[in-house]
Amino acid sequence: MPSDAPLYRAAFRLVLSRMDPEQAHRLAVSGLRVAHRLGLGAVLQRLTRPQESLRTRALGIDWPSPFGLAAGFDKSATAVLPLACLGFGHIEVGTVTAQPQPGNPAPRLFRLVQDQALINRMGFNNDGAAAVRRRLERTAARIAKLRERGAHAPVVGVNIGKTKVVPLEGAVEDYLLSASTLAPVADYLVVNVSSPNTPGLRQLQEIEGLRPLLRAVGEEADAAAGRHVPLLVKIAPDLADDDVDAVAELVTELGLDGVIATNTTISRERLRSEASVVEAAGAGGLSGPVLAERSRQVLTRLRAGLGDSAAIISVGGVITADDVSERLRLGADLVQGYTGFIYQGPLWVRRINRELARRRPAAVRG
Ligand SMILES: Cc1cc2nc3c(=O)[nH]c(=O)nc-3n(C[C@H](O)[C@H](O)[C@H](O)COP(=O)(O)O)c2cc1C
Repeated sequence: MPSDAPLYRAAFRLVLSRMDPEQAHRLAVSGLRVAHRLGLGAVLQRLTRPQESLRTRALGIDWPSPFGLAAGFDKSATAVLPLACLGFGHIEVGTVTAQPQPGNPAPRLFRLVQDQALINRMGFNNDGAAAVRRRLERTAARIAKLRERGAHAPVVGVNIGKTKVVPLEGAVEDYLLSASTLAPVADYLVVNVSSPNTPGLRQLQEIEGLRPLLRAVGEEADAAAGRHVPLLVKIAPDLADDDVDAVAELVTELGLDGVIATNTTISRERLRSEASVVEAAGAGGLSGPVLAERSRQVLTRLRAGLGDSAAIISVGGVITADDVSERLRLGADLVQGYTGFIYQGPLWVRRINRELARRRPAAVRG
């Protein structure tokens, strides 16, 4: 991407890339929170606010931009408003589990700089559903005020997953606890069954298990919130084509609101990084541009299977405004990114929004 952020690239090369990736992440988030607390939020907002022409209607919600931040960056909702100040149309919080948990032992996040990729085996480190709910209640009050003032206010989604210590047989109950706790503070809810870092989780993608899980979570979420909370399921890029088709059929059968495709991959194909670097990182989910091709294939297949009956949020290897436009053309309603943010820096989303706005209306559905 022709970057207009040489400062960030220099900072990345000289400072951030030499730090442990997780420490760099914490430093970046703290910096953003401090800037926000010091009152720089309003200034940033003015600089980064998505253009009016980017407004998008999907899932019965108005989105300030079709482009948002994927799950995993703000797992416990500690930085929703500071992140919103960068111009994301939505922030997907999580993955949140019913019980707080520390995640896997560090190191658990690795950069493959040559591929602009990441490998992570974080393992759903998060503060648990109750703490995240309290934070999101406070955030919601502040977002409501932003809306009243006509300032940029993001859509906030919540992504839920299974607590590690809960056995697979208890998964439905565990998801239900998260759903009832978090649906009241979520604009939309995501059932994550596709992380490679919680043992057994991806078995829940099998249709016979997925059907009762999604049905039960949908009912629980709506009952707890007293309104319909759009429900999506997030799937892995490693599903076979037939399994992607089966997910589309299930989504149609259940009248589910949508699908998020895709999570990280366990594949290590097509990497340019040296094999020793890849091996040293070890197990985990791979993200970044190497994921793009499979993510596009899954999107195209899902759209063919779903027709217009459900929304698709496309994610995986999205780096440029061209990538966003392409996903929208292939049938996505909304698009997300994560790894691009790490390599492109805080002005990344602003650049994407500006470029998308230049092309609107051709680029954006809705
Ligand atoms: C460090 C890291 C942590 C992640 N954590 C989660 C998570 O908790 N839940 C989830 O659904 N996806 C998680 N993801 C996956 C992203 O949301 C996204 O689906 C994936 O990285 C592909 O997009 P990208 O290529 O733009 O990064 C994580 C990704 C990364 C890199």
